[in-house]
Amino acid sequence: MSFAVAIDGPAAAGKGTISKAVAAHFGFAHLDTGLLYRAVGAKVRDGAEPVAAAQTLQPQDLEAGDLRTPQVADYASKVAVIPEVRAALVDFQRAFAARAGGAVLDGRDIGTVICPDAQAKLFVTASAECRAERRFKELTGNGIEVTLEGVLADVIARDTRDRERAEAPMVAAEDAVLIDTSDLTIEAAVNQAIAVINAARSAR
Ligand code: DC
Repeated sequence: MSFAVAIDGPAAAGKGTISKAVAAHFGFAHLDTGLLYRAVGAKVRDGAEPVAAAQTLQPQDLEAGDLRTPQVADYASKVAVIPEVRAALVDFQRAFAARAGGAVLDGRDIGTVICPDAQAKLFVTASAECRAERRFKELTGNGIEVTLEGVLADVIARDTRDRERAEAPMVAAEDAVLIDTSDLTIEAAVNQAIAVINAARSAR
């Protein structure tokens, strides 16, 4: 039987960490949908046309080495504004959500557009300063040279673009449970998410 968990929220709020932990806990498959947009963004940076890049995206494109850089994130957020790019990625995401055995998808529009009927929905957020600090540590830890001010400016610019676009903007679904991770440990945030999903499972 399928069971879809939608986890949305802004950059570096902890969606990825929570999604992975929750998927491992329940034995569900996990799809980081941001990677789809990052893979398209990387192709566009390399000269491809955005819609064609989205329509011809291959599984191995998600394994390109540099998808986690701030430059690719910026391209991803820009191509994500284009309705035809988003449309090209819908079927893959919905098929993933419907797989037997359960699935966790994290992104910006999972609970609103991709899986409006998801059995459990979370919106994971944190203050921009907190998110910038976490992303700064992650990037410098990976040897990528950035400044905290630069990361904060990037986070705010990307949030604004993701939130204000016309097509599938980043917004919490009405029936999503909000988790603000600003003052939570990873463990506490993961436990909150697990509790929400357990409640949804027993309600079925
Ligand atoms: O989650 P992320 O930071 O890897 O996502 C990169 C960009 O991709 C994000 O700024 C907006 C876009 N995105 C989107 O529009 N919809 C999604 N479901 C996931 C990501």
